Formats: sequence, C-alpha cells, structure tokens
Amino acid sequence: MDRIDFLRAELRKHDHLYYVEAQPIISDREYDALFRELQDLEAAHPERITPDSPTQRVSGTAINTFNSVRHATPMLSLANTYSRAEIEQWVGRVIQGLEGAPVEFVCELKYDGLALSIVYEHGMLSRAVTRGDGESGDDVTLNVRTIKSVPLALAIPSLSSPSATAPSTNTNEQLQFFTSEPNDHDQSTAPEHIVNRFEVRGEVYMLDDDFLKLNAEAEERGDKLFANPRNTTAGTLKQKDPRDVAKRRLQFVAYWVDAQADASTRGFGSTHQRNLDALRTLGFPVGREVRICRNVDEIMQCIDEWDAQRDSLPFQIDGVVIKVNSLAQQDQLGSVARAPRWAIAYKFEAKKAQTVLTDITLQVGRTGVVTPVAELQPVSLAGSTISRATLHNEDFVHELDLRISDTVIIEKGGDVIPKIVSVVLEKRKPDAQPWHMPTHCPCGNHSPLHRPEGEANYYCTHSSCPWQIRRRLEHFAGRDAMDIDGLGERAIDQFVQAGLLTNLADIYDLPSRRAEILALDRWAPKSVDKLVAGIEKSKSQPFERVLYALGIRFVGEGVAKIITRAFPNIDAIAQASEQELTAVHEIGARIAQSVVEFFADPTEADLVHRLQQAGLQLHSTSTIASDAFKGLTFVLTGELTTFTRREAQEAIEARSGKASGSVSKKTNYVVAGANAGSKLDKAQELGVPVLTEEEFRAMLDASV
Ligand code: IVH
Repeated sequence: MDRIDFLRAELRKHDHLYYVEAQPIISDREYDALFRELQDLEAAHPERITPDSPTQRVSGTAINTFNSVRHATPMLSLANTYSRAEIEQWVGRVIQGLEGAPVEFVCELKYDGLALSIVYEHGMLSRAVTRGDGESGDDVTLNVRTIKSVPLALAIPSLSSPSATAPSTNTNEQLQFFTSEPNDHDQSTAPEHIVNRFEVRGEVYMLDDDFLKLNAEAEERGDKLFANPRNTTAGTLKQKDPRDVAKRRLQFVAYWVDAQADASTRGFGSTHQRNLDALRTLGFPVGREVRICRNVDEIMQCIDEWDAQRDSLPFQIDGVVIKVNSLAQQDQLGSVARAPRWAIAYKFEAKKAQTVLTDITLQVGRTGVVTPVAELQPVSLAGSTISRATLHNEDFVHELDLRISDTVIIEKGGDVIPKIVSVVLEKRKPDAQPWHMPTHCPCGNHSPLHRPEGEANYYCTHSSCPWQIRRRLEHFAGRDAMDIDGLGERAIDQFVQAGLLTNLADIYDLPSRRAEILALDRWAPKSVDKLVAGIEKSKSQPFERVLYALGIRFVGEGVAKIITRAFPNIDAIAQASEQELTAVHEIGARIAQSVVEFFADPTEADLVHRLQQAGLQLHSTSTIASDAFKGLTFVLTGELTTFTRREAQEAIEARSGKASGSVSKKTNYVVAGANAGSKLDKAQELGVPVLTEEEFRAMLDASV
C-alpha cells in the first residue's frame, strides 16, 4: 500500500467515525492535513485519481437536468395510519396471512425525509436515484456523493470478522473499503453478489440544528425561508451545484437492501434485522433505535415511547414503521397496491394548540433586519411553553391576514420551530384591524425602516440603532464567538442603557470603568471580577473566532475559518479586494462583497483598530501544521505589506518549512518585498527562484 492508498484508507476510516459513528478520534485539523496531503499527491499524479477517492466527493460541474431513471424493483410506499386500533388489526392480518406461524416484528423510526435508492457496482457507488413515482425517479448521483455518511466505496468485513451476516461486532478499525484499484486479497473476502450489484435504500434527511442554521442564514439574507427540514432536504437534493449540496450537510440512514443473491435470501441473511446489521458492517449508517417486538403490546409500548421522546431526537420523525422481520414471511405476505403487506407506518399527530395573538412586536437583528414577532398567550405545546413565534416578515403576516387579538393555531409538527399556521376566523373580534409594518424602528431614534427592492426584509436605517448594537454585542460575547463569561443579555442591556457600551470595542474599556459598573443594579465586586476575567480571557480567542464575532454579514463560523486560513492577519483581509477574496476556495461573490463593504466602513475600521489595540488575536497563529513546505528553505527580504516578518516566518514554519536569514545554493525560494537589496541580487546570481509577496501568498493559500 503506498501513501495515496494509505491516506484514502485513513480518510475513509475517519469519515466513517465522524459521520456514521459520530465518534471522531482525530481533530478537524489533523483530518484537514491528511486530506490536503492526498489532494497534493493526486494533483502531482492525476493518473491516480479515482472516483471513489475521498477528495472526489464534491464535483465542480453543475447539473443541467436530472435524468429520469427506472428502479430495478419499484420503490413501494407504506400503508399508514394514525390509529392504534388499525395497528392491532394489521397485526391480526399478518398472523392470519402467515397461518398462525410465529412472527417477529421490527419497529423502526419513520424518518421524515426523502426516500433514496443507491446502487453500488463492483463495490463502488454508481448511481443514486430519488423515489419519484416509485417506478422511476431522478438521478441525483452527483449530489448524493457529497453526503459524507454515504460510502463512495463499500466497506467489506476484514478477515478478522466472521461473516457479513453476523451482527456487527467489528469495530471501525476493522472496516476496509473497496478501492477502484482492486486488490485481489480484499475482494476475495467479499461475497460475489455484493461485488457485482448491490442496492441500498434509505432516507435522506437533515438534522434540526443544520436546518435551523440554514434558515437563520436565509432570514438574515432576506431570502425565502424553508418550511421544514424535509422540504429543505428535497430542495437540496435538487440543487444544480453539488458544492451547494455539500455545504448543507445532509444525512442518510439505510433501511432496505437488495443484493440480488438468490430469491430466498434477499440481501444477506434471513431477516430484516440481519440485513440492517450487514448494512452497518458495510459502512452505512443504520438507525440505532431498531427494536424487535413479539406482539401487539410490545409494538404499542414502542410507539408510546417514541411518541413521548420524539422531541428529544436531533432530527424529525413522523412515526414508527413496523415490519415483519423474516424475509421469507415478507415474501409470503407480498404486497398490494404499491405497499407491502408486511409493513405499516404508525404516524404521529402533528402537535397543535390554540392561543391568542396578543401583540405583534418588532425585533432587530444584529445586521439591522427588523422582524415582526407574534406575542402569544402562553400555551403548552409538545413539551414546551410557547409565548412567542417569529412571523418572519411583513408578507408572512399579510398572507395569513393576522390581526392582533385573533385566535390562532400554532403547530410543531414536521417543523422544529413552533409557527402560526392559521387564524380561527370564527373567533375573530369584529373590531380586529389588519396589521401594517410600522414605519419606524422601535429603537427610539425615529429612524425610518427601509425595505430594499426585491427583499422581504426591512432594515433600520440608523447607523447606531441601540437594538442592533445589543444584538451585535450579544453575538460578539456569545458562546460560539468570544465566549465572554459574565457578559450575557441582561448585562449587555444594562451597559447599553447606562451608556457604557456603544460598540464592540467598548467591551475592552469596561475593566477601567469598575466604579460605574458597581453603581448599577445587581453588580457586586465579585461579579465585576468575573466579568473582567472573562473579558481578559477572551483576548486569547483565536483569530477565526474574532473574525466571526465581528458579525460581518455572511461570515459565519465556517467562512471565518476559511478566511483566516487564507490571510495572515486582519489588515490583509481589510486590504483584500473582492477578487482576492473570491480567489479563495469556497468564498463567493456575496461574501466577498460583504467583507469589502465592512472594512470600507470607517466606523468598522475604527472598531477593528481599537480591538487590535486592546490586544485581541487578529492574526493567524502558527497552528496550521502541515507538511506542505517540508524540506523547503525560504529567505524573506525587503518590506512585506500584508505580513510582519514574523508572521511570514510563522506561516512557513507552520507548513514545516524553514525560514533562513541568508541566501545560498540550498535556498529554495527568496520572497522579495519592496526595496529588497543584496539578498535579491544574490538570489538572482545563484538562480534561486524569487517570489513576489502575492506569489508567496498564493503558495501559502494553496497549502493551508
Ligand atoms: S421502509 C417497502 N422504513 O416512509 C418499504 N420507510 O411512507 C419501504 N420512511 O417511502 C419503506 N423511515 O421514504 C421504511 N424506517 C423506515 C422509514 C421509511 C422513513 C419513509 C420512506 C417511505 C415512506 C413511506
């Protein structure tokens, strides 16, 4: 096994541990270093690139049309019911159909996503197709390849595990994956019917958290919101650019397999449960909540438990699926009208409640977006008390024709967020008036609200809207950003009101304003000490967090990480043009424009300057750690504009290169800034390659 094979095997193992087992054993940084090394090796040896390489998940080609593909066997749907009595009747019919033979059931979660079929040929993912009408669906292969929990190559049980049909006891270290450069030894252990053609079906879905994040971003942009994780998943699978799909973090769970062995043993074993175990062994994510039930009582108990616990799952389910475990018995029962007789779905009711809309208030976000919010008479729904619900924007309120004092229905069904779904018109008060968006921001500055052409959002036009400042401060001090202990919502509110905080940089002056803080309600020497310590500690937060904390529009945590890896410090970012920013992989025009606008604003520039003075980490520290420059010696000379000498040196060392003071034959590169003198001459004399600062930067970017 050479280095390329080794890196691929390692990356597949870590993908599996991270995305399927949710138990990563290395840091993101270590993973990135392995990934980068493989990318570099593949760039140097393009003939070695294979479609199943971990670097080949995300294709850069856009999809023009989704071709329709016929399923080898129709994708059936499930009979479903909201009634327990009907579940009992179904169990009766199954027993009758099997002429009283003993029967075992498997209860699984009914994932609220989209059904997908994935075909593997010779162990390699060859095609992924949506359910469509059950007979044929859309070819979404390029998009599905980006789902990290979907293996591009099947894992085959290693020699140490007894057989593919045995329940999965082998640990991840024992997973081996097919490679497209077959190795006879590996393939001989794989059952032939898996090697040739193998179809797995399951559900694509999205985690609630990922959905909420996506919607928050859409809301901030003033884009149309996604209704629920399921719709978002459907929309995502139909994206034309696989790179956009990769960003949305879809999940997959397998629940059916067809390995075309022989008719008596569809899949791998004689039961559904064994098939699931085998799927797990082959590297697929399989629901962990699968349970064997022997009778109606056990099935009901399972349904009750999931109905009660569904809110504690990190994703949406809309019921429980009950299946006959024995595959022979499944065949015996057969199917009717596009649904198998051997399975049924028990569906949970969407959770609804009625309450009164007492008011519509406005909320100001950190970028100035002003959103209407429904103030509700508190009501209990799906385990929590609801007293507010976002109304998103003016159009949303008008579409529902919501009026203050209306009785409304709120729902928390396939959706994560409680939302108002309708008005009970019979209960409308005769004097209820249609609602209009106020013309001015609630910030008290009499600043008019402005709705830009083509956007659904209104913005406060006041440059120092205190509500916007509060939101910005909350974001800055928040757990994901600077994580300042002692500076929560309440403290921020107090400090803004007292005039102690008018912008982000004022935070770092708070320690010198002890007496003023102590004069405020609820502040004592001890709590001030805690605050001061929290502020002090935040100064060591890494650059990427600081950049994120600034609250630049479209610069979320991920983008902040990418930017801080591509530029050595905040000055370099501030000076970068839109072009230079978009040259960085994954930074699009919208982000670039927003960054440029931010730093062009003198108020923001001043703010950044003050934060710099306060001692925040506004430059990259040498923690990138890769081997990209191993064995290379650089000499820096002349004046560099976007780095200090030390930062440039650190960037070289972080990539395992050497920065030397004098030019010799052993020097690989001389980086020459303005007014370079004798070292540049010497380099030219010895024929050592000379890099401009931009070329050097590009080299650093290419090797993060
Ligand atoms: S089995 C012939 N198992 O529910 C059996 N389906 O309403 C086919 N679904 O189209 C499906 N979770 O998209 C099965 N654990 C599960 C499921 C599941 C969700 C979806 C699937 C199917 C739909 C039918």
